[in-house]
Amino acid sequence: MHPTLNIAVKAARKAGDIILRYHNQIDLLTIENKATNDFVSEVDKAAEDAIINELKYAFPDHSILGEENGEILGDSRFQWIIDPLDGTTNYLHGFPQYSVSIALYVNNEATHAVVYDPFKEELFTASKGDGAYLNEQRIRVTSTNGFENTLIGTGFPFKVPHHLDAYLGMFKAVHPQVSGIRRAGSAALDLAYLAAGRLDGFWEIELSIWDIAAGALLVKEAGGYIGDFSGRDKFLETGNVVAGNEKVFKALLKTIHPHLTEDLQR
Ligand code: IPD
Ligand code: CA
Ligand code: CA
Repeated sequence: MHPTLNIAVKAARKAGDIILRYHNQIDLLTIENKATNDFVSEVDKAAEDAIINELKYAFPDHSILGEENGEILGDSRFQWIIDPLDGTTNYLHGFPQYSVSIALYVNNEATHAVVYDPFKEELFTASKGDGAYLNEQRIRVTSTNGFENTLIGTGFPFKVPHHLDAYLGMFKAVHPQVSGIRRAGSAALDLAYLAAGRLDGFWEIELSIWDIAAGALLVKEAGGYIGDFSGRDKFLETGNVVAGNEKVFKALLKTIHPHLTEDLQR
């Protein structure tokens, strides 16, 4: 494993320990509402602080963007992007589907990625050009030849409800063509599952950069495709994401296209 990825893994495991320490004592946590349906607990903050400490110790000059702390400016060529707990709503309900997501972008290019599920002890990692791994075993996207017999991941636009009608149009169009659609509640893990061949495709509206920064590299290094709703690569900026193996990626783009509002055509 590349030494930089190793540091990211160490940081993710530290955050995972904090997350697990409290997962049976959720009632004791202080929970704040950042915006409608957007919750944060002291666990999110403690987990992010642990990651930042680890990264700063190893790379004092690097820039760090964390969901809870915002931007820590440094050498802008090296940009860490952190979601300390992706799937907070699940976590706060004791629903065991959540993850720690850490990515390093070097000169704006995804270079190292970790998505860690502490509950299931599943560690998804990737470094550019070196493939994607689950607990150090190589993973690849599926090779289904279109929508038939596929399982598709998605997320509901619960933080951006003005997109609900457009989303439901997309859902209705995808639903009859596939075997199943899952809304598991951690976008970073959804992308990791796609990389591991557990899902064949994924789409979601207006995610944040920290939800997708690591998962995107996992998908690419596992041989998959990821893009915005036009199939291009602006997904980190718009947060609109379509991903899949080559055939499912194309099928998803084609199917959701008629349901894009002007606002979503970017
Ligand atoms: C959320 C999860 C969820 C997605 C939301 C994200 P959070 O992240 O990734 O799957 O649907 O849009 O905000 O708030 O739990 O870190
Ligand atoms: Ca998130
Ligand atoms: Ca989060």
